[in-house]
Amino acid sequence: MAQVEQSASERVAEARDRYVARGVSTPRLVVASAEGAHVTDPDGRTFLDFAGGIACQNTGHRFEPVVAAIHEQVDRYLHQCFMVGTYEPYVEVCRRLAELSPCRGAAQKSLLVNSGAEAIENAVKIARAATGRPAVVVFENAFHGRTLLTMTMTSKVVYRRGFGPFAPEVYRTAAPYPYRGITTDDAIDAIERLFKTEVDPESVACVVLEPVQGEGGFIPMPPDFPPRLRELCDRHGILYVDDEVQSGVGRTGPVWAIEHYATEPDLVVSGKSIGGGLPLAAVTGRAEVTDAVAPGGLGGTFGGNPVACAAAAAVLAAVAEPDFQRRSEELGRLLRAGLDGIASRVPEIGEVRGLGPMLALELTKPSPTLAAAAVEAAFERGLLLLSCGIYGNVLRLLPPLTISDEDAEAGLAILEESLVDASSRTN
Ligand SMILES: Cc1ncc(COP(=O)(O)O)c(C=O)c1O
Repeated sequence: MAQVEQSASERVAEARDRYVARGVSTPRLVVASAEGAHVTDPDGRTFLDFAGGIACQNTGHRFEPVVAAIHEQVDRYLHQCFMVGTYEPYVEVCRRLAELSPCRGAAQKSLLVNSGAEAIENAVKIARAATGRPAVVVFENAFHGRTLLTMTMTSKVVYRRGFGPFAPEVYRTAAPYPYRGITTDDAIDAIERLFKTEVDPESVACVVLEPVQGEGGFIPMPPDFPPRLRELCDRHGILYVDDEVQSGVGRTGPVWAIEHYATEPDLVVSGKSIGGGLPLAAVTGRAEVTDAVAPGGLGGTFGGNPVACAAAAAVLAAVAEPDFQRRSEELGRLLRAGLDGIASRVPEIGEVRGLGPMLALELTKPSPTLAAAAVEAAFERGLLLLSCGIYGNVLRLLPPLTISDEDAEAGLAILEESLVDASSRTN
């Protein structure tokens, strides 16, 4: 009998099944190379990328200034450990973050680490040290990471199942979710209630909030919620930590999504796209807060790796450029018009929402079936797409902000076809 020959992608996928732990969920895509807004598999099939490695490619795959900066750094040195020897790329990233910081206060300082979760952990450590208080308030639909503390702070059972006991002193309250009927007033009332029933506000170190909740469903906070939360924090001496791991570094147009709101947080946490594809994350805030931790209290072997920092300096320079922001906003308008058009033709879509080019479609049914089928149908048609949301029923768009209009429109067309096809198959 003739043997069916395996494709190169199938060979890699088979080895993955054999050697990689099952808990890391398995995508269909196998990657051989990537450029701009395109990813190519080992069999030469090219995909349009609306996933960006989950929001890590705001400047696009192999963004030229990033690749050049990495090459230059690789030829000098790869690792030092910032606690062994000071190197300039780390300091340069902190300088740029200080210049761009949306936080309160004149003098801004940063800590660099390896991942978003590690940065959130460190923001909590800093907030506890600065206030001398233990408690942390987080929100429904939040995603803050997969470490013990950040998993506890995360609001989706699949990320926590089987992993307890969880970290102490984490309190959760409702976040605004207008499409599902939760308003700013409801969310503020819920915090006030939390402060009466569960935790003394005088023992809360910080609240941690994503301005656009990412994994939770691309839910932008209503314009009045961050300022009202800020007011509440100020009333009780609580620090406001702005988690911009997914929404930051240009994703919504300005460098930080919180710039869309009339408020200033105390600490901003960045990650994902900041490294241009290399692992880097940061905590930034006014010096009197960040410096509450004594020398030796913060750090890590690889945190602020020189090559990742060289890449990040190039990314931050790019996303701070007014032309880059203008183009992102233009892209946001194009994508939103496209999604509104799709929503007017596809009855299963309940809401188009987002900020600037950080956009998503929520399907009416609170079930993952149709969104999962649409992601699958998009893959078959050459589009990489991700779902999200507590019900898994949101399709989110995370293309590189450097994508061309033609590619963006082609992606939208595939998205619509995929949704229509998936809907006919799942009905
Ligand atoms: C808002 C937010 N915070 C924190 C994290 C955790 O980042 P990392 O996966 O780099 O640990 C994520 C990851 O998706 C995120 O979206």
